[in-house]
Amino acid sequence: MVEEAVEAKNQAVNKSLKEIVVETKNLEKIYDGKVHAVRGVNFELFDGEVLGFLGPNGAGKTTTISILLGIIQKTKGDFSIYGKDINDYKTIRELIGYTPQELVFYDFLTVQENAELFADCYQIQNKKARINELFDLFQLTELKRRRAEKLSGGQKRRLNLVLGMLHSPKILFLDEPSAGMDPQSRHILWENIERLSKKEGISIILTTHLMEVADRLCDRILIIDYGKIIAQGTPDELKTTYGAEELIELIMDESLDAKLNDSFIVDLRKEFSKITFHENKIKIFTKNGASLIPDIIEIAVKLDVTDYIKSLQLRGSTLEDVFIGLTGKALRE
Ligand SMILES: Nc1ncnc2c1ncn2[C@@H]1O[C@H](COP(=O)(O)OP(=O)(O)OP(=O)(O)O)[C@@H](O)[C@H]1O
Ligand SMILES: [Mg+2]
Repeated sequence: MVEEAVEAKNQAVNKSLKEIVVETKNLEKIYDGKVHAVRGVNFELFDGEVLGFLGPNGAGKTTTISILLGIIQKTKGDFSIYGKDINDYKTIRELIGYTPQELVFYDFLTVQENAELFADCYQIQNKKARINELFDLFQLTELKRRRAEKLSGGQKRRLNLVLGMLHSPKILFLDEPSAGMDPQSRHILWENIERLSKKEGISIILTTHLMEVADRLCDRILIIDYGKIIAQGTPDELKTTYGAEELIELIMDESLDAKLNDSFIVDLRKEFSKITFHENKIKIFTKNGASLIPDIIEIAVKLDVTDYIKSLQLRGSTLEDVFIGLTGKALRE
């Protein structure tokens, strides 16, 4: 079994960058005959790439990952990993790593004991060296004698991540790995994931709600909503295809009367077809922003709200604009 896995791993390493390592065809999941969580998902993960799953809560990201890992059963469709189906998983299991959305380790064991236990499960040869390497990278060395239950939320996340990577997997599934981390920890996390994916040639499927992270780290992104892929491409392709060429962003003063604010948006909607409004930010998606600014000001003057415009900015689209434009969550919630 180990020999087969090593051979599969060697084959994987030797193949070209464009090899497909994960493939799904019309994958579907209906929970309990009722909740249609995944509704026909088709995608490929190529060798060495970081593929991002972006989607609102409940979109079906974790469900898709859980099917691929063999944790839950698909309802319909097909998928393969290294060309093998679920029945052949024993030959490829060692090539797969997983950091689940929830924390999975033993609270009553220390950081070091958890790592050793997980390393033993995978029969890792150079256990001590690998643990030390990952502890150094994810800054857990100082904490290795601490009981896991006593770690902070962000430290627990880092331990969760290390445990999924100890056996040097070739495909890594990271489900919201940075939840609850402070900006510094997130920075360390993303830098190291980038470094490891390059150094060890890991292919990664990553879910995150952090758009800047997805933009920087992912080679390609799938935007998933209601169990379907509604858009896909490189971050730049998504911005070019789905983002407006330009975006006018108005930040309104919180003291503006809610009714007046609504009237302002209603009047803007009469002039501009694509507007989103979230908290005190109004975004107008357009092709020729500069020429439209006088029209916006005119509407603001008519309603006497100019004093409540804290800022008005013209800029290019971000991935977050694309995401909100496509899923409309800011409008729906
Ligand atoms: N075990 C289950 N039984 C029944 N329904 C479930 C189960 N697990 C998930 N669901 C439902 O399936 C849908 C998809 O859930 P999933 O966890 O895949 O979403 P997600 O995209 O990972 O969301 P999040 O961003 O919040 O993590 C949701 O409506 C959820 O309530
Ligand atoms: Mg999830």
